[in-house]
Amino acid sequence: MKNIDSYTHTRGESIYLDDIPLVQGTLYAAVFGSPVAHGKIKNLDLSAAQSAQGVVRVFTHKDIPGQNQIGGIIHDEKLLAEDEVHYNGMPVAMVVAESQEAAYAAVKMIKIEIDPLPIVTDPREAQQLGLLSVPARTFKLGETASAFSFCKYVIEGIAETNGQEHLYIETQGAYVLPKENGHLFVYSSTQGPTAVQRHMSHVLGLPMHQIEVDVTRLGGGFGGKEDQATPWAIFCALAAFHLKRPVKYSLHRMEDMRMTGKRNPYSSDFKIGLNEDLMIVAYEADYYQNSGAAADLSPAILERTLFHSNNSYFIPNVRTTAYCCKTNLPPNTAFRGFGGPQAMFVIEAAIVKAAEIIGVSPEAIQKKNLLKTGDEFPYGQKAQSEAVPCWEKSEDIYEVEKIKKDIALFNASNILFKKGYSYMPICFGISFTKTLMNQARALVHIYTDGSVVVSTGAVEMGQGVNTKMLQVAAAVFSIDSSRLKINSTNTYRIANTSPSAASATADLNGMAVKIACETILERLKEFVANDFKCNAADVSIEKENVIVRGEKVMPWNELITKCYVNRVSLSEHAHYATPEIHFDGVKEKGHPFAYHVYGTAITIATVDCIRGTYEIDAVKLVHDFGSSMNPIVDKGQIEGGLVQGIGWMTMEEIIYDKEGKLRSGALSTYKVPDIYSVPKDISLHFLETNNDNLAIFRSKAVGEPPLMYGIGTYFALRNAVKAFNPESTIGFSAPMTPEKVLMGLYDRNNVSNKNI
Ligand code: MTE
Ligand code: HPA
Ligand code: MOS
Repeated sequence: MKNIDSYTHTRGESIYLDDIPLVQGTLYAAVFGSPVAHGKIKNLDLSAAQSAQGVVRVFTHKDIPGQNQIGGIIHDEKLLAEDEVHYNGMPVAMVVAESQEAAYAAVKMIKIEIDPLPIVTDPREAQQLGLLSVPARTFKLGETASAFSFCKYVIEGIAETNGQEHLYIETQGAYVLPKENGHLFVYSSTQGPTAVQRHMSHVLGLPMHQIEVDVTRLGGGFGGKEDQATPWAIFCALAAFHLKRPVKYSLHRMEDMRMTGKRNPYSSDFKIGLNEDLMIVAYEADYYQNSGAAADLSPAILERTLFHSNNSYFIPNVRTTAYCCKTNLPPNTAFRGFGGPQAMFVIEAAIVKAAEIIGVSPEAIQKKNLLKTGDEFPYGQKAQSEAVPCWEKSEDIYEVEKIKKDIALFNASNILFKKGYSYMPICFGISFTKTLMNQARALVHIYTDGSVVVSTGAVEMGQGVNTKMLQVAAAVFSIDSSRLKINSTNTYRIANTSPSAASATADLNGMAVKIACETILERLKEFVANDFKCNAADVSIEKENVIVRGEKVMPWNELITKCYVNRVSLSEHAHYATPEIHFDGVKEKGHPFAYHVYGTAITIATVDCIRGTYEIDAVKLVHDFGSSMNPIVDKGQIEGGLVQGIGWMTMEEIIYDKEGKLRSGALSTYKVPDIYSVPKDISLHFLETNNDNLAIFRSKAVGEPPLMYGIGTYFALRNAVKAFNPESTIGFSAPMTPEKVLMGLYDRNNVSNKNI
């Protein structure tokens, strides 16, 4: 089925927050963020702002009727600062005015005096100072200490990954309309409508049933709107609550970049032990996660880092420890992969470093240690693995031996251009790591004309989930997709939703749609069986026709009308909870994932050894889809995820200075991939696998995993640098910007290349 949004997207008719027609009397909000990263507020002078033209009112924490608290996992984050500020951009006050311009102008008139406190931006420094948002966590399998003593090779090192700006095309925003008797209608660009509803209820002191959150679609979320869409909606609601007027706030790009959190940067130590046969016997890692000034989702992200420490390899002895380090940066948050990519970079760096020291190719180690079915993850779950089939398929169809030969030939005959390649296998667990979040609901109505409307808790953000929801309903009823419509995501229709995240949205909500439709279908069949004096098992609906014992007896719409006339319910609300999954957070063991997604990427890159610039020639993928229910949508996710991963690994460079001020806070200073940075060749092989799995229609989740293929780019580029300067001490610190490539190329330690 074609993506149902393709028509309105290409015509510019799709409705985002900024396209919602405004109600007369709408006011506009703007937030005043702290100009410094840490300190005590001595004085806040709002007088000029309050009396500025067009300003209706300026709000501070004193205007909050409920609790000044928006922390999701732990209660450590205030909506508006009280006596201290913890990061540059932390909201201190909100201006509400008759126009957006007046609101911004008044924000500039606010004066604040702050007594400075020490600023920490480095996670390792924070850990040393004891600044942790939650206690450290450790996962263990086997016994590493004794295992290392039996290893032939033991290699240690450091690996670092920087943050990443979400850069959803639609910035954060919300529009709140006060209705009668205290009911607030909230348009929010959020992945988590229930999170908005719940936190708004706490801040305003209202029961959740007074708050209706409605989402048509997002112009991208990428994790940045899982938790961090919430404050902007509450700001609008706080003003609407007091002023009894509609209030809108749609952030300017530079406000969004300055005030919201990003992917968590990590600095990590690794220690890897191998035996003579290149089997990885033991692995240890310490992850220092930069969580920013509040926990936000960082403790859950940290947990996923621990779940993915071994990427796609079986290692019998593992000890990993992760620290959630509190710094004076905006609270970092979910970003496609949710801590998984950060862990995978570290193990890949460990393998590459080990290969260099041992004198073998990294893929010799990678291939030897791929997870096999039945292998145990460090958290106790047993693998149902497609790691080996993905790897072998890629060697086979992409003619790897020829690729290697061609690269060797190219490098031997070129002095100023060098090529490098890498293998990047991935393994990603599907399910929210917090078991209770793995539940969803759907509401299906059939109208008397035979048309169907489906509502779920899924939020469409470009990933095509709405299309998949309709595919499920069309398949169960066996009716044409033109009969189906998906409704907006609304907390009055579907309650207590988990955010659309963890790549699990289609599985969870799709299963709920399937159950709802199957329940209705059973009722329809029973009605027909009764009418035709047969068993329900003799009745089916095929391609819009009711079939009884092989005979067409009536079309779909006639059946629906008859059911209505006979007072048969044509509606159903269904609930789905993923079976089998569990996790014990004390023992750190269990079976947290419904299944895993596997894949292999081969990346080829060329470096210009004068300029330090580079091109990604090709990324060749074999991806385990189970059985894709929508290959075109899924291909879009693979390509988009890959390019986003390449951006993180190469050009996207977030820079905070020592004062905690963002120096890359605009699109002139922060470079994201564009059409010219996309690999010239992206080949994708759909690996169809027949194993039973808990995915909807056995079509495995696809949202996040492909981002991790981008990690291969770092190592392909690094290999090209090493081909030019074999003694380069270039380490493992992403992103691999052209500046870093250049410094690696001309790193003058022990130079043997006479061209340097
Ligand atoms: N694709 C688009 N176009 N826009 C997005 O915001 N978010 C990603 C991924 N793909 C995103 C996207 C993230 S972070 C996740 S968790 C999944 O989609 C969420 O959707 P799913 O659960 O339906 O895969
Ligand atoms: N992934 C994404 N988002 C989440 C998760 C997860 O595992 N847990 C809580 N929020
Ligand atoms: Mo995605 S990071 O789970 O929103």
